Amino acid sequence: MAVDHRYDFVVLGSGIAGLTFALNVAERGSVAVITKKNRAESNTNYAQGGIAVVTSNEDSFDLHVRDTLEAGAGLCREDVVRGIVEEGPARVAELIELGMSFTERENGNGARHELDLGKEGGHSKRRILHARDVTGREIERALLAALARHPRVAIFENHAAIDLITRRKLGFATDNRCVGVYVLDVAGGQVETVISRHVLLATGGCGKAYLYTTNPDIATGDGVAMAYRAGVPVANMEFIQFHPTCLFHPRAKSFLISEAVRGEGGVLVNGAGKAFMDGVHPLKSLAPRDIVARAIDAEIKRTGAECVFLDITHQSREFLQQRFPAIYAKCAECGIDMATQPIPVVPAAHYQCGGVVTTPDGRTSLPGLWAVGEVACTGLHGANRLASNSLLEALVVAHRAASAVLKEPISAREDLIPPWQSGPAQDPDELVVIYHNWREIRQLMWDYVGIVRTTKRLTRAASRLRSLNAEVQEYYWNYKMTVDLVELRNLVLVASLIVDAALSRHESRGLHYTRDYPLLSSAPPRDTILQA
Ligand code: FAD
Ligand code: SIN
Repeated sequence: MAVDHRYDFVVLGSGIAGLTFALNVAERGSVAVITKKNRAESNTNYAQGGIAVVTSNEDSFDLHVRDTLEAGAGLCREDVVRGIVEEGPARVAELIELGMSFTERENGNGARHELDLGKEGGHSKRRILHARDVTGREIERALLAALARHPRVAIFENHAAIDLITRRKLGFATDNRCVGVYVLDVAGGQVETVISRHVLLATGGCGKAYLYTTNPDIATGDGVAMAYRAGVPVANMEFIQFHPTCLFHPRAKSFLISEAVRGEGGVLVNGAGKAFMDGVHPLKSLAPRDIVARAIDAEIKRTGAECVFLDITHQSREFLQQRFPAIYAKCAECGIDMATQPIPVVPAAHYQCGGVVTTPDGRTSLPGLWAVGEVACTGLHGANRLASNSLLEALVVAHRAASAVLKEPISAREDLIPPWQSGPAQDPDELVVIYHNWREIRQLMWDYVGIVRTTKRLTRAASRLRSLNAEVQEYYWNYKMTVDLVELRNLVLVASLIVDAALSRHESRGLHYTRDYPLLSSAPPRDTILQA
């Protein structure tokens, strides 16, 4: 990438949100897709269960809306939910047209042309389209292949966005807007200036703020942190979703056991083989995620065990190999035969339900800045996301954002943008301190800001995060920029936003459960909005 460059559209992130947006604007201008690692590396790439979308005659938009609202515990915006659910089938049809291949099943006549529908927690019907258990990998493959056909799209791998450039930061008192972004070339170590009238944040979530997570290393909350620093409101960060079933094994880092396994009859049991969800919720092991994760947490604390188990041994080996090839192989690699043995599982941080506040078409409060996907908060998920609604949201909202952007002027203004200034020093101790602080944040968030919270623990976390933030700031301005430093600075900010949001919610709702306020508040439901 040239040190200073202009593009009509700049897309930060190459998951489903960024790539879908890029594809939809590519006919109309030059596009830079800037991504932190290799182009496929994203949460999207690891999605297993699939995309929730109404395609069956036995299902309806009303039922999908109802299930989403029920999971969201009173905080979803019903108009947003209905809009996204109803637009889903058209967007998924386009994805198939692009080359996405969903698993099909035999219909009654032995012909294979019906889409197979999976089931997950909180869904009243089978409605999850999937590519066996590697749906996200297949989505990335299809979108990247389609994008490769566009000559005006340039993908910059191993480039990390550091900060948004706004007119206010440049010293202008009026007409604030986002005019570009500073980007670190990870290999070369230099910071480049990318100028554009339209910048899309599609940087995903922040699972790496927690010690145990299903997310890959890219998920450090960079987009939320950049938007917050630019003065854009951020909502509902207290609602971090813990997936109930992450594989518990020393050789398995962040490996998910899809909820679809429970959709095919998998039952959660404790070490004694007792199905402990039976008395907890009418949907038992397939209850919404907040309820299942809390029940597992309680079971682990009650029994003192390290994990619980997911038992799907009633299914045949052939079925498991066919339906869940990646999970079957990973378990086998860890010495677990899922056809005959229950799988050891624990909850882990999985999804950020809150994020940068946007309209249902991805517009933020800062002109020129758009946000789509896990980084954004449209009002779809409320206090707890319904399984497999995030790929749906990203697909629908990215398409809408592209349509909205294309109605606006494209060419960038001629503001003079100064180059990035960073400290010159390099200190061999620096890396050790960064890793130490990083680990401390993640451990702290796991211990004090997890599935079950208390005001005392949250307050302790807030105070420790304030000192860590001061330390990180000192490093930030004195030392040469590295991607670790960029991520650490964002992680400490995002962790603080989660804690501040949690402290300000004096009730238990959806994914936010605190012993000090164990009930729903009687006041009307409200979002937690934080703004710098
Ligand atoms: P991502 O796919 O996470 O992409 C973010 C991109 O931004 C990456 O390319 C990353 O490198 C880049 N990036 C980040 N920071 C920077 C920066 N500073 N500079 C440049 N680039 C940056 N949801 C479902 O609906 N169904 C499922 O079955 C499902 N299964 C899941 C399984 C797993 C294991 C996980 C982790 C999540 C799952 N989810 C699922 C959630 C879903 O995958 C994500 O919410 C969704 O893919 C997010 O898409 P995105 O495009 O917003 O972000
Ligand atoms: C899963 O396959 O269990 C993940 C689905 C999701 O997070 O939506």
